[in-house]
Amino acid sequence: MSLINWIDDRFPLTKVWNEHLAQYYAPKNFNFWYYFGGLAVVVLVLQIVTGIILTMHYKPDAELAFASVEYIMRDVPAGWFVRYLHGVGASMFFLVVYLHMFRGLMYGSYRNPRELIWILGMVIYVALMAEAFFGYLLPWGNMSYWGAQVIISLFGALPVIGEPLAEWIRGDFVVSDATLNRFFAFPDIGLNINVKRNASAPSTSNLSIQFA
Ligand code: HEM
Repeated sequence: MSLINWIDDRFPLTKVWNEHLAQYYAPKNFNFWYYFGGLAVVVLVLQIVTGIILTMHYKPDAELAFASVEYIMRDVPAGWFVRYLHGVGASMFFLVVYLHMFRGLMYGSYRNPRELIWILGMVIYVALMAEAFFGYLLPWGNMSYWGAQVIISLFGALPVIGEPLAEWIRGDFVVSDATLNRFFAFPDIGLNINVKRNASAPSTSNLSIQFA
């Protein structure tokens, strides 16, 4: 008995594969514009795999983060390549998702009975923007710092709750080690078992020490 038969006796693998993928009844008029959902899955996997590899060498600490990225670029074998795959991959993710959304608008894929798919897509889109924003802080360079400063300040512009909300997001009165740590933790929750790896490292909230 083959392995597939052994699994099929316990779980309907072949049936699920055929019904949802191999023999799924799809319209004949699928075209170029329908590639991008599948391509988004490809980029998502690329981001997760390269992200996990980067996490093996990155240190989420205001004193160590910048230097650990330099280390990835210079000393980790193919580290520069993995980092650029991840950075360029993030931009390509948006390109692919915008083309995917354009298809949705062009063919009215947001309409009945697909409204929930569209709404779920919008949730994914917001999550993607948040993820990219969190990731941008991690190299802890000047652009990361001021990028975070600007975007978090946007929340501060909300009436009444603005300032407390901005403080809550930062976890501090300024963008600091606390912000860096939570921005590192969020993207990695559920994806990465390394999050706690550096929890015992000494930490500081002073950016100037980092650049000294
Ligand atoms: C990580 C991001 C995403 C992935 C991996 C993804 C994946 C997919 C895949 C594989 C399909 C089926 C193939 C295709 O039609 O291209 C699909 C369909 C669809 N997606 Fe996405 N998607 C993503 C984001 C979005 C976003 C941001 C929206 C809209 C705001 C969206 C709206 C839709 C809709 C409406 C369909 C159904 C199209 C139809 O049946 O005509 N998706 N998605």
